[in-house]
Parts: sequence; C-alpha cells; structure tokens
Amino acid sequence: MSKRIEVNNLNIFYSDFLAVEDVSISIEPRTVTAIIGPSGCGKSTFLRTLNRMHEVIPGAHVEGEVIIDGNNLYGEGVDPVLVRRQVGMVFQRANPFPTMSIRANVLAGVTLNNRKLSKSDGDSLVEHSLQRANLWNEVKDRLDKPGMSLSGGQQQRLCIARAIAVAPDVLLMDEPCSALDPISTLAIEDLIEELKLDYTIVIVTHNMQQASRVSDRTAFFNIAGTGKPGKLIEYNDTNTIFSKPSVQATEDYVSGKFG
Ligand SMILES: Nc1ncnc2c1ncn2[C@@H]1O[C@H](COP(=O)(O)OP(=O)(O)O)[C@@H](O)[C@H]1O
Ligand SMILES: [Mg+2]
Repeated sequence: MSKRIEVNNLNIFYSDFLAVEDVSISIEPRTVTAIIGPSGCGKSTFLRTLNRMHEVIPGAHVEGEVIIDGNNLYGEGVDPVLVRRQVGMVFQRANPFPTMSIRANVLAGVTLNNRKLSKSDGDSLVEHSLQRANLWNEVKDRLDKPGMSLSGGQQQRLCIARAIAVAPDVLLMDEPCSALDPISTLAIEDLIEELKLDYTIVIVTHNMQQASRVSDRTAFFNIAGTGKPGKLIEYNDTNTIFSKPSVQATEDYVSGKFG
C-alpha cells in the first residue's frame, strides 16, 4: 500500500508566477514527512502537486517530475483522476459532504470513482475505514445521521476515513488540525502514528510541536520575499532539523524567530 515518492526538479507555476522553485526530495514509504515554513512559502502549493490537485486551478502547471512507485504522475497519458485515487488528501477544514450521512460520506470517494458496491461490501468498507480512522466506536450506532452532526475533530477523522476508503498509497494532509482543539488534535496525531504503518504520509503544519511529535522527516520551505518563489531549504530527520539544522534560516524558523 505504502509507496516511495521521488520529486525531481519541480517548478510550480500559477500561470506565469513561479510559486515554488526547483524542489527535489525523496520521501520513504511508511514515514511521516512534515512540511514546515512561513506563510506563503508554498507548502500547500507543493502538497497539491503530489496528487495533481494543483492543476485544478486554471493556468496552474508544473515542470519536473513527481514519481510515485516508479511512475511519473506528470507523464504522458496519466489520468489525474487515477492519481487522486492513489494519493488521498485531507484538508485544513474538515469538509464532509453536508447533505450526506456518516456512512455515505465514508463511501463518497469510492462511489465517485464509479465502483458499484453491494450493501454488505459497503458495510464492511465503512466499518473498516472508520476503524482505521479511530472513529468507529463513536459513530457505529448512528451511521445514518448527517456527517455534519459530528464534532470538528470527528468530522476530520470522518474525512480521513473517506480518504482511506478509496485505498490510496499516500495520504496528504494540509494543516489537518489547525481548526481543532488540543484533545482532537492529539487524537489525529495518534491516528497519523498508526496510519504510517501502512501509508506514506506528508503533512503540512505550522505547529512546530506537532511536526516534532508526528514526523520522521521534516522539510523546511522558505521564501526570500513577496513575489519570490518558495524553495526547499533543508530536509532531514526531524530530530536533526529541530536540534542541529545546517542552515541558519532553518534554525531561526524552528526556534520561532520568524514565520
Ligand atoms: N490559486 C492561486 N492562484 C494564484 N496564486 C496562488 C494561488 N494559491 C496560492 N498562490 C500563491 O502561491 C504562493 C504560495 O502559496 P501557498 O502554497 O498557499 O503557501 P503556504 O501554504 O505555504 O502558506 C503565494 O504567493 C500565494 O499567493
Ligand atoms: Mg497553506
């Protein structure tokens, strides 16, 4: 299930604007990689190129390669829809489909992908996905209630269950806890720890404690000024990034001097 990600010389554009310049990074399977850096340095932009969500924006494009399990996502003839099935995404704000039940939300990605499911296959996929998202015990008696009836933290785990139900190899998370209280945040962090046994996880966070708690490796992005492209400055084991970074800007950022 879990796959290695290799990014080679990636330039990311919004029309003519070069938002992120020349990123090369190699992400191991079954690890959690944290993307950190000041606002506007291109963390979300970079993350969205890992499942071709970037190109949903008119004019947005990339140069370079993103190779997952040996295949370039941007190779000729690659279907972005299939890419997004392989690489799931969880957003900053939990976004359950408002008119759908908890059950329907879990299955939403699967049915969007045109898979016909029998009732019993659907039931077991719902249970399995909610179990994996550490939400099953809290919702098993009210699967037909609206997804929106859950708390913020539960909604975010519901969105993780929805992502998992499609059976991706990689999970991308863009500040998944930034709208959550500390208890719900810890629940998501525990979950990430469990999920990395099976998935390659890349998480954007502006929370330094979170990066050091959940990630194995950390990538620090920075930006020289407004209108300049964001760049990958340093990438290493999380311990090294937080205790002995090699670049001054990394040290300044992780010690809270800016950002
Ligand atoms: N949809 C968009 N259209 C044009 N420019 C964008 C868009 N989204 C982000 N940008 C620009 O790309 C740069 C990086 O933004 P973003 O990836 O959101 O940074 P971060 O997530 O690190 O805060 C910024 O200059 C931002 O204004
Ligand atoms: Mg962002």
